Amino acid sequence: MPGAEPRERPRRPAARRDVGVVEGADVAGLGVHHRRPVRRVVAARREGGGAPVKLLDLFCGAGGAAMGYHQAGFTVVGVDINPQPNYPYEFHQADAIELLEALADNWPTGRALPPLEQFDAIHASPTCQTRSRATAWRGRREDHPDLLTPTLQALETVRLPWIVENVPEAAWDGTMRADYLLCGTQFGLNVRRHRAFQLGNWMSFQLIPPCQCYRNPRLIPFEHKDERAFADAMECTWMTNLEARQAIPPAMTEHLGRQLTAHLQAVTR
Ligand SMILES: C[S@@+](CC[C@H](N)C(=O)[O-])C[C@H]1O[C@@H](n2cnc3c(N)ncnc32)[C@H](O)[C@@H]1O
Repeated sequence: MPGAEPRERPRRPAARRDVGVVEGADVAGLGVHHRRPVRRVVAARREGGGAPVKLLDLFCGAGGAAMGYHQAGFTVVGVDINPQPNYPYEFHQADAIELLEALADNWPTGRALPPLEQFDAIHASPTCQTRSRATAWRGRREDHPDLLTPTLQALETVRLPWIVENVPEAAWDGTMRADYLLCGTQFGLNVRRHRAFQLGNWMSFQLIPPCQCYRNPRLIPFEHKDERAFADAMECTWMTNLEARQAIPPAMTEHLGRQLTAHLQAVTR
């Protein structure tokens, strides 16, 4: 269990720049300089004074996904079965699947979390060890439960827009649909990191640079012996190395989160 492993010294989040566009590096050496819009929605909300959009972040870990949604303008509330002292936002310790089932059946009174109707969207990152090829390096996939299938089943019963994230293997074996297959290089990050995302109750599409990790020796792979360098390259600077093993680069959910806020603004107009 991730919670049972010894903790390392957490690092502080890197200072975020409150600017419109960040010029990224040419990570792949292909002449593509990434331009990443940062905090546009947040800034627009500050100026417009609109109510914050609220996202329920299930299986939140130390908050890689959460940080990206925050950058996209969401107020994020995290849920994880293990304590997450480095999670940067409001946190509740609970079983995410039990919680989703309870939420779908009307929220029972007496719980600490607000009712589902107070959220605008849901993100879920169920554990991936039962499918990830990387599990075989340190153990056996069969020793890990399949949490993705019950998560998708539970999400089918809710009406809010949702996003589920997992390793690409979960799309290859047909458990989920990869509406997006994102790589860190598409966001100017110097890492080989791929994740599949399935969207429910909404859909969006936006062109971004293609993945640039094919035969690219300049990128840091997941199995890199300097785990700190890998975590920092994902921009998960506030996490321990162990937490970052399971995290996704915030840039991925910042990208999806900006599309989700645009969708929410369009449907509530
Ligand atoms: C893939 S990690 C999440 C990574 C996170 N989204 C990020 O980007 O940093 C999966 C998390 O699920 C948690 N978890 C495992 N079983 C759970 C359950 N039944 N309910 C809630 N969380 C659970 C683990 O403790 C772990 O933190």
